[in-house]
Amino acid sequence: MAAIGSAVGLGNIWRFPYVCYKNGGGAFLIPYFVALFTVGIPLLMAEFAIGSIFRKSAPLAMRDISRKAEWVGWWGAFSAFFISVYYCVIMAWCLCYLFHSFGLIWQPDASSFFYDKFLGVTSSPSIFGGINVQIVFALLFIWTSIYLILYKGVKSIGKVVAITVPLPTLLLLILTLRGLTLPGSLNGLEFYLAPDFSKLALPSVWLSAYAQIFFSLSLAQGIMIVYASYLKKDSDITNNSLITALADGGTAFLAGFAVFSVLGYLAFQTGLPMEEIARGGIGLAFITYPTAIAKMPFATSFFGVIFFLALLTFGIDSAFSMVEAITNGLKDKFGMNRRKATLLICMLGFFLGLILTAGSGIYWVEIMDHFISNFALVIIGLLECLIFAYIFGGEKIRKYANEVSEIKIGRWWNVFLKLIAPVILISLAIASIVELLTEGYENFPSWALAIGIIVVIFGIIISITMVRIKCRQAQ
Ligand code: TRP
Repeated sequence: MAAIGSAVGLGNIWRFPYVCYKNGGGAFLIPYFVALFTVGIPLLMAEFAIGSIFRKSAPLAMRDISRKAEWVGWWGAFSAFFISVYYCVIMAWCLCYLFHSFGLIWQPDASSFFYDKFLGVTSSPSIFGGINVQIVFALLFIWTSIYLILYKGVKSIGKVVAITVPLPTLLLLILTLRGLTLPGSLNGLEFYLAPDFSKLALPSVWLSAYAQIFFSLSLAQGIMIVYASYLKKDSDITNNSLITALADGGTAFLAGFAVFSVLGYLAFQTGLPMEEIARGGIGLAFITYPTAIAKMPFATSFFGVIFFLALLTFGIDSAFSMVEAITNGLKDKFGMNRRKATLLICMLGFFLGLILTAGSGIYWVEIMDHFISNFALVIIGLLECLIFAYIFGGEKIRKYANEVSEIKIGRWWNVFLKLIAPVILISLAIASIVELLTEGYENFPSWALAIGIIVVIFGIIISITMVRIKCRQAQ
C-alpha cells in the first residue's frame, strides 16, 4: 500500500495528463505502456527484490553489491530529494487552491489569476520576483505534516497510507463520473485517446514516456528499495510489483479520463477547439481545470475542493516516501538518529523550496523537473539496471523472486534487465543529450539550462562525497 502511495501522486493527475497532451494525446499511451512493461515493471521487480534481499536502504544495498556502486544509490536518493523540493511546492499550490475553491476566486480569468496574482510570475527566470507568503505558509504546513507523519517511525506510515491511498482514488472516481456526465466530454476523450501515430517517430515522445515512468513509479531513487527492505522476508515480489505498477498506470489512465472529459466540456462551453483548450503544461491543474470547474452546472466549489484534496492526498505519500529513502540512507551509513535525520531533511526541503515560492519559481520547477526526470533518473535507471544485471546477477534476482512469489517469471525476464532496458535507456540518454544541445528546452535561455545541468552534476558530487565520508559500519 505504501509503495502504491509513493507511486501514485501528482505524477498521475498533474503530470501525466499534461505530458500526455504535450506528446500527442492518445498517441502517448503507446510509448507510455511500452515503457511500463519494458523498463518500469522489470526494474520495479528488481528494486523490490534487492530491498528484500539486503534489507537496507539503497546506497548501502548497492555498497553490498559493490563498493563502486554505492554512489549510484546516493545519487538516486538525492535526486528524489530534489524532486521533493519542487514537488512539495506544487503541493503547496494545491493547498492554497483547495481554499480558493470555496470562493472560486480565480474567476473570471484563471490564467491571469494563477500567473499574475497567485504566483506573481516574473518575465524571466533570472528575475527573482516577490515571495507569496500564502505559498510559504502552505509549504511549511506540507513539510511539517511530512515530519509529523514520519518522526514516530514506519508504523505510522501504514496508518496514513490506509487513508491517503483509497480516499483520493475514490475522489478521482467521483471526478471521472462527474466529467463523463458533462456535455462535450466525449470530444475530450476522443482527443485523449485518438492515437496520432506520426508522433511515435519522435524520440522526445519516447523519452518523455520513459521519464514519466521513472518519475511516476518512484524508480531509481531508492524509494522502492527502502520500502521493500521493510517487507517480511518472504513477501511476494512479483505480485507486489505488478500490483504497484498496474495501480500506478491505471490511476494515470483514469486521471486522463477525469481531466480530458472536463476539458471536452470546457471546449463545448467556450466553443474553442480542443487543441486550444488542451494546451497549458504545468498550468493545466491550476488554470484549465479550475476554469472548467467554475463553469460546471452545480456544486462548483465542491468539485474544486475534491480535485485539490485528491491531489494533496495522492501527493503526500509520494513526498514522505522520498524522506524515508534518504533518512534511512543516513541512518544506515552514519548511524544517525531517525528523528534527527527526518527533521534535517524536512527543514532542508522547506528552505530550498522557499526559493521556488518566488515569482520566478515556476520556471525553476519546470527546469528541475525536466533535468531530473529526463536526465538524472534515466541515467540512474540505466546504471541500476547494469549493476543489478551484471554485478549482482539478474538470474539471482529472478531466482529469489521466483522462490518467494506466486507467479513465476521465465528467463525472458533476464533479457529485459540485461539487454532491452539498458539499450533503451542508453539510446534515450544519448537522444536527450543531443536534443538538449541542438534544440535547448522550451524557450529557456541556455544559462538557465546550464543551472539544470549543474543541479544534476551537484547530485553526483554530493553522492560521491557521501561514499568517501567514513561510515560507522566500515569502522
Ligand atoms: N511517484 C510520484 C508521483 O507520481 C513522484 C515522485 C517520484 C516523487 N519521486 C519522488 C515525489 C520523490 C516526491 C519525492 O507523484
